[in-house]
Amino acid sequence: MSAPISDAASDVKKGLEGVVAAETRIGDVDGQHCQLIYRGYNIDELAGRATYEEVSYLLLFGTLPTRAQLADWTRQLDAHRALEPKTLAILQSLPHQTGPMALLRTMTSVLGLDESESVDDTLEQMRQKAVRAVAVIPTIVAAIGRLREGKIPVMPKAGLSHAANVLYMLSGSVPTDGQAQALDAYFVLLAEHGLNASTFTARTVVGTKSDYFSAVTAAIGTLKGPLHGAAGRKAMDMLFEIGTPEQVTPYVQRTLADHKRFMGFGHRIYKGEDPRAKHLKRIAKQLGEASNDLKWFAISEQLQEAVQKAKGLYINVDFYAASLLYYLGIAPELFTAMFACARTAGWSAHIIEQASDNRLIRPLAKYAGPMDLRFTPLDARR
Ligand code: COA
Repeated sequence: MSAPISDAASDVKKGLEGVVAAETRIGDVDGQHCQLIYRGYNIDELAGRATYEEVSYLLLFGTLPTRAQLADWTRQLDAHRALEPKTLAILQSLPHQTGPMALLRTMTSVLGLDESESVDDTLEQMRQKAVRAVAVIPTIVAAIGRLREGKIPVMPKAGLSHAANVLYMLSGSVPTDGQAQALDAYFVLLAEHGLNASTFTARTVVGTKSDYFSAVTAAIGTLKGPLHGAAGRKAMDMLFEIGTPEQVTPYVQRTLADHKRFMGFGHRIYKGEDPRAKHLKRIAKQLGEASNDLKWFAISEQLQEAVQKAKGLYINVDFYAASLLYYLGIAPELFTAMFACARTAGWSAHIIEQASDNRLIRPLAKYAGPMDLRFTPLDARR
């Protein structure tokens, strides 16, 4: 017997495709024109010109900071960047060979334990927690990376920028200006992206009046999936599998024949090329040139052309992010966690926006199961 369908529930939008579920002043993902806007600024205006410190401030407070505001914001980030010894001890007690995103999700939840009664944060409490999360999540990621390699975690160095500190805490040495600028640009480009799955999750959590760290923890769990944040790592695996520029064509043919997906290609919203991709491509090339190793860039560029020709698919943010991060010496298993570092600013802005004009997020589902079944006693069931 089929279920009756109410009018309201009859029009199912699978994957909520095309559904406008929130009004926001934070960012605009314009799929038709392939543009990305942060608080009114086209990403092309910001890439390579504004630092992650400036952009995280922009996302959280709505305007680019003045010199004095930036100095104060940088001071606040510096003050929260180090991991407290008790938090580091918890991280050290966890099984390090567990995936980095599972460790990061767990440790973000641990950050929430540090707060006094966290249910029903005020907006000011959320802002305080956002500063802390933006500052310390990269420290956790760097410590995870080092522990997985059997090394002792390195704490931040005063005087380094946010991005330079991440590279310093990962490798133990101060990066070149070019390396720090490359990671900084990556962080800027990945800081915000509208109502993507992880941001929607964060807004849904805080929409129940749950606390800031519950929302960020849930967002990290959502970002972890290969159709969202983990595509960058999979894109790098694909480049490894291809191995040389000569192998691009056979790889494309094989993948098409097997009906498999090209990681770092395609997008739910953008109808053409992801507006972040050209910036990441330029930076990946610069890093390849600086390290006299253009192999990964060359494979990527050929693959981009071949897949677009064969399937009409455009690259997305994850494609050149893969070789960019790899050229910076970052292990592919940490790529999704690096994405989380960047996106913490965007998640935080959305959490605060949702909380400041909240309505419980509660869509409907169309019931498609049986109806009017009669209870069967246990012994009578077949
Ligand atoms: N490789 C091969 N084919 C792809 C593809 C890819 N990367 N992305 C989309 N397609 C094809 C699908 O096979 C499908 O073809 P079909 O209609 O013949 O079956 C069609 O394009 C539509 O795909 P669909 O998955 O329905 O689109 P979507 O809007 O749900 O997908 C993504 C968006 C991002 C999930 C999808 O493009 C994808 O899986 N990309 C690879 C993972 C990735 O890079 N994710 C990062 C996103 S920023």
